[in-house]
Formats: sequence, structure tokens, C-alpha cells
Amino acid sequence: MNGEWMIETRSVSKRFRVAGGGALSNKTFEAVGGISLQIARGETFGIVGESGCGKSTVARLIMGIEKPTTGEIWFNGQRVDDMRPAALRKLRPKFQMVFQDSASSLNPRKTIMDIIAQPMRYHGVARGGEAKRRVSELLDMVGLSQGMAQRYPHELSGGQRQRVCIAKALSLEPELVVLDEPVSALDVSIQAQILNLIRELQARLNLTCIFIGHGLGAVHYVSHRIAVMYLGRIVETGTSDQVFEHPAHPYTKALLDAAPIPDDRQRGRRRSALTGEVSEVAPTGACCLYPRCPIAREECLAFTDGLKPLAGEAGHCAACARAWEER
Ligand SMILES: Nc1ncnc2c1ncn2[C@@H]1O[C@H](COP(=O)(O)OP(=O)(O)O)[C@@H](O)[C@H]1O
Ligand SMILES: [Mg+2]
Repeated sequence: MNGEWMIETRSVSKRFRVAGGGALSNKTFEAVGGISLQIARGETFGIVGESGCGKSTVARLIMGIEKPTTGEIWFNGQRVDDMRPAALRKLRPKFQMVFQDSASSLNPRKTIMDIIAQPMRYHGVARGGEAKRRVSELLDMVGLSQGMAQRYPHELSGGQRQRVCIAKALSLEPELVVLDEPVSALDVSIQAQILNLIRELQARLNLTCIFIGHGLGAVHYVSHRIAVMYLGRIVETGTSDQVFEHPAHPYTKALLDAAPIPDDRQRGRRRSALTGEVSEVAPTGACCLYPRCPIAREECLAFTDGLKPLAGEAGHCAACARAWEER
């Protein structure tokens, strides 16, 4: 069973110390809780939810940058969250990340050639002419001209810089690429180009990706399967089309309604806006959406079931008693 998924998290949670609690304070809050997800080799797994819901924390836990407070993380049938630092270091090159602002972290004094070649040189996989040949291949892959190699980051546009970051992330032929809001800082017109590039590269190289975003549209566009997060929990998961075309959880519906609707067929769709603020914390034991949910009932005050499959839709799960009834 363990070898089936490339990445698996089992009931992973992460608690952080409460800011301003003082150095001696033990007060903590749960940034993510009970996260169980599985990612297959060669798929793009999307994670979507509002800012602060714990998407980056999940990514950092999978990357091994943070240790889970409870739960386990498995990679290719091997438990990795409790690995010794030396063993973890060997895994590092297999996991690469592209951030929203990774473009701004490009060393301004290095040429694009040196920036993209740096991981290969550091890990000793390619040097000299071999590294140059590989950089030229990578530039081609991400749609940048060969002339870019001798330029400096400030001479490139935001979209071009993000292409450089993607090339750098691919340079070591990683097993997993985590893209954490890679288009959120770009102009809308450029966003589509980068999303297309990600889709193309994923298919061509059979990459395994985690794509994080706060808009369901972009996440649906590049992902095969999606998890929707709210306040540190996964509230719905399924294939990209199941979640996007037939959302089951009231939070997913609200997330869809928050997005512009380009498609005439869907324009008449009923709006299901949430009330209140994200900061409204549900009473203990209640569904996390309880204070804001348009269809909450008294029974939602005691909701401990978590994600459950929806009838007749293989692989589509939601954490909502009303959604289970509806289907
Ligand atoms: N290192 C940290 N220390 C304390 N709190 C953190 C830390 N990292 C994230 N958080 C908090 O955890 C919650 C989830 O954050 P994050 O995973 O960055 O959300 P997202 O990526 O969905 O915007 C937020 O409330 C954030 O402030
Ligand atoms: Mg984030």
C-alpha cells in the first residue's frame, strides 16, 4: 500500500506558538489540522483557499522545511517526517519549490546562466560545458530565448523572471515541484502565459506538482485533483472537474462565486456568499465554517466526521453533513 502514492500525509497537524505571547508562553494555535492527502506520480495536485488557511504550511511540511506537530509524511513508501538531517539532505534536491516572490530573490549580480546553473554546480551534477548545455535546454523548455543567458534579473520582466525560477527548479530533475502561488504577483495577462507553461511542462515531463492558489479558476486550470482548504482543514477534495463543476461544500461554492464568471452557461448560477469574516472561529466541536455558513443547522455545532465520500462520485469527498444528504 505504501508504495502506491508518491506523497502521502496522514493526519498531519502543525501548531505554532502564538505571536506576542512572550518567550515563555506555551500558547499555541493550530495552523493546519488533520490533513490527510495523497498525491500520485505524474499528477498536479491543487490546493486552494483564502490567504492564511494553511496552504503554504502544508507545502512546507511536505517539503520537510517544517516538522509536523502530529501525523506522518510519506514519500515513495518511506516515512520522511522523522528522518535524520543527513538522510533528509539527500532528498532535498528531489523537492523543488517556486514561490510567488521567488523572482525577487534572484541574485541581482548573477547572470541568468549562473542563476540557473547554480543548483547543478552546488550538487555537482553538471559543470562547465555540460552545465551550459543544460541551461540552454532549460531556457528553451521555459520559453526563453538563448540570449537571456547573459542578462541580469533586472533586465527581465516579471513573467520572464518567473520562467527563470521555473527553469532553476527543474534543473535538478526533481521528483516533486511545489508551486506556491506562482502567478499571484503577476499581471493578469502574464498569469495565463505562466499557467499554460506550467500545464505544458507538467504534461511533457510527466512532472508531479503541487499547485497552490487562492482562486479556484487557476487551480482548476492546471490541476488534476484539488483540495479546498478552510481554516487549516481540507473541506473538499476530488478531481479538478468534480470540485469545479459540482462543488459540494458551501465553502467551495462561495469560493467559486467569488470568482468572475466568464462562461455564459454559468452566469445564472445562484450566488452562495458567506457572511462574516474568516477570523470568526467556530465553537469547539463545530464545523469550521459554522459561523459563516449560509446553510448551517444546529447539528453542525457537533461535527466531527471530517471528509467523507459523496454518494455516486468516486474520489469526491466533502466535510459537510448537508452535502452528504444533498447528493
Ligand atoms: N512560522 C510561523 N509561525 C507562526 N505562525 C505561522 C507561521 N507560518 C504560518 N503561520 C500562521 O499559520 C496560518 C497559516 O499560514 P499559511 O500556511 O502561510 O497560509 P496560506 O499559505 O494559506 O496563506 C496563518 O495564520 C499564519 O499566520
Ligand atoms: Mg501562502
